[in-house]
Amino acid sequence: MTQTASNIAHAIRLHEFGGPEVMRLDAIELPLPASGEVQLRQTAIGFNYIDVYQRSGKYPLPAPTGLGHEAAGVVEAVGAGVEDLQVGDRVVYMNAGVGAYADRRNVAASKLVKIPAGISDENAAAVFFKAMTAQYLVKKTHPVQAGDVVLVHAAAGGVGQILSGWAKALGATVIGTAGSAAKCEVALAAGCDAAIDYSQPDWVAQVIAAMDGRKARVVYDSVARHTFMGSLDCAAPFGMVVLFGAASGPAPAIEPELLNKKGCLFLTRPSVFPHNADTATFRANAADVFEAMASGAVRATIGARFSLAQAADAHRAAEGRSITGAIVMRP
Ligand SMILES: NC(=O)c1ccc[n+]([C@@H]2O[C@H](COP(=O)([O-])OP(=O)(O)OC[C@H]3O[C@@H](n4cnc5c(N)ncnc54)[C@H](OP(=O)(O)O)[C@@H]3O)[C@@H](O)[C@H]2O)c1
Repeated sequence: MTQTASNIAHAIRLHEFGGPEVMRLDAIELPLPASGEVQLRQTAIGFNYIDVYQRSGKYPLPAPTGLGHEAAGVVEAVGAGVEDLQVGDRVVYMNAGVGAYADRRNVAASKLVKIPAGISDENAAAVFFKAMTAQYLVKKTHPVQAGDVVLVHAAAGGVGQILSGWAKALGATVIGTAGSAAKCEVALAAGCDAAIDYSQPDWVAQVIAAMDGRKARVVYDSVARHTFMGSLDCAAPFGMVVLFGAASGPAPAIEPELLNKKGCLFLTRPSVFPHNADTATFRANAADVFEAMASGAVRATIGARFSLAQAADAHRAAEGRSITGAIVMRP
């Protein structure tokens, strides 16, 4: 196929940090792909909650900057030295640096994986970053075993649904939490054995009751401020509390001694990027995700679609907690 590199892209740029309104759709110059890069015509862009932290300045970036970590697209031009990709290949990425909110982009070939036949670009962009997160959480941070009791907070969200379904497929008993009765229904449909509305003041007691008096071998907590102290109470002795996000704000600071008092707990604060830092590990993890999609352990549930020009509305919807499942943007 012929190379069709473009020298103009349209991309969301941040010239300052703050509310959703700081996102501007700019026309920017796009050079030819450098050595080791390909140029993508992007077809679907995945929203992830980290985009909110970075847009608002909670996770600082140097301005001006692009935004977004995940997209699917078609290779339109190939730079020197790229041997494993060609024009026309459908690919997806999740750790190529910020800038996924764009219609075209140059990306290092080492950060791309081909999308298997049978998975649409939209489903790949909806799931890849979130499933790569769930992958290290259930396979590496705590390798989930059949019979484990697992607690997943925000279980109706993008990562939450995938994490719940995957832990269930590995044989765990999965308790989910979510912010409303309707969202608890979504958590149940995603694979949770029981779902508790954590807007209720006694949610911790309800979670422990739902675990038949047992406590959780692992608690996956991406909500933080609202849930963290309760998470320590829901973990079994020698269990692990995995703090991997802060959707409600940062977790309170604790003294290490508290982990002893709560049952010799393990506490970790991991991230998806170091788990996929080298190309071989990234590709192996991606293969695991695609296998889980093929087996049905991981399902793509799209909660809302926006155009790239409506990125601010996508962020408002996410921050307003009105969506269940993944948000996808179309360039
Ligand atoms: N460390 C990592 O490697 C990593 C990687 C990916 C994602 N994450 C984290 O995983 C979490 C989920 O990410 P996602 O992209 O799939 O987003 P998401 O689940 O679609 O959205 C965030 C969820 O947090 C819950 N939430 C609780 N309090 C909230 C508040 N005050 N404001 C907004 N939401 C609140 C919402 O559920 P309810 O309305 O039901 O409470 C919502 O489902 C995020 O915290 C993200 O930072 C971490």
